[in-house]
Amino acid sequence: MLTQDDIKNALKVVKYPGYSRDIVSFGLVKEIAVSQDGISVTMQLTTSNPDAARQIQEDSERVLKALPEVKTAHVEVRQPAAGQAAPGALPNQNRIPGVKRVVAVASGKGGVGKSTVSANLACALARLGARVGLLDCDIYGPSIPLMMGVSERPTVSDDERLVPPSNHGVKVMSIGLLLDNDQPVIWRGPMIAKTIQQFLFAVDWGELDFLLVDLPPGTGDAQLSLCQTVPLDGGVIVTTPQEASLGVVRKGIGMFQKVNVPILGLVENMSYFTAPNGERVEIFGHGGGHAEAARQDIPFLGEVPIFTEIREGGDRGVPVVVSAPDKPAGRAFIQIAEVIHKKLK
Ligand SMILES: Nc1ncnc2c1ncn2[C@@H]1O[C@H](COP(=O)(O)OP(=O)(O)OP(=O)(O)O)[C@@H](O)[C@H]1O
Ligand SMILES: [Mg+2]
Repeated sequence: MLTQDDIKNALKVVKYPGYSRDIVSFGLVKEIAVSQDGISVTMQLTTSNPDAARQIQEDSERVLKALPEVKTAHVEVRQPAAGQAAPGALPNQNRIPGVKRVVAVASGKGGVGKSTVSANLACALARLGARVGLLDCDIYGPSIPLMMGVSERPTVSDDERLVPPSNHGVKVMSIGLLLDNDQPVIWRGPMIAKTIQQFLFAVDWGELDFLLVDLPPGTGDAQLSLCQTVPLDGGVIVTTPQEASLGVVRKGIGMFQKVNVPILGLVENMSYFTAPNGERVEIFGHGGGHAEAARQDIPFLGEVPIFTEIREGGDRGVPVVVSAPDKPAGRAFIQIAEVIHKKLK
């Protein structure tokens, strides 16, 4: 009997109408049930366009019925009611024009250092000669402006696109640059989706080798919107050794795998602490990230120790990669950036 993976693989030939990208990578396939009697698949669209839904259903059923030993195939395509969908939920472009690679930084849990890693990797890639943008997709708790030392508002270009400010050789966009400081954001899913689409397509990113995307913790609206809006070239998962041992990493991996995003690997942050006498103190034990990467069969990208300079750099708006590239903390990030640079050449 066919497995769910077989079905998913088969559905990868079905393109989203009008796009060269397939429906699986857009994250549309939600449920797959296989029984003696046949196959049943449920998909969820973000657009209320009935033509798109009908075509996806027809194409998918045709593909599934052509599989060996399949008698019946039923595909249900769910859609939001007209008017409720995020306007333009799928972009007119497959990729962001001018942007070569989009790489997302995620974790299974909050506070493990995603934003710190994103900011430092962005600066490190710029040091390696790449043209880099950094997009903060954390709508509720944007920390990239502070970490990158950027506070000026984006300007608007003649063709009404947002021009991102830049610092340390990195173009930066964040909701934190658009809203007043203490204004809490209480948007719901569709607003977040819309904002993220605009951050990708209504921002004048120019020519970039890498657009790094800092995700909020968990697997919520922002992650889903991002994955459904733009094809990601890779996902980086950040963990602490302690988190790794608890298996939280799996959530982050699962999120990327569900939407076919290649996982570049795992970064272990806050790996150890070097005491003033030079002794290496492994607060959370040793090798958790490495072992977890091996267990999950994904590459291990490297470890970043706990350093006061890393936190201070974040608070000062000068990432340690910029202020002290030759010290161990800076070097740790640069080495990881080199691996990513090489993988996505
Ligand atoms: N290797 C490190 N050494 C010292 N401090 C660190 C290190 N990594 C992160 N920090 C500090 O830990 C705090 C949390 O880091 P950060 O904001 O990057 O985490 P996050 O995963 O993005 O959090 P959130 O889930 O809230 O988005 C920050 O104050 C940061 O400066
Ligand atoms: Mg963060």
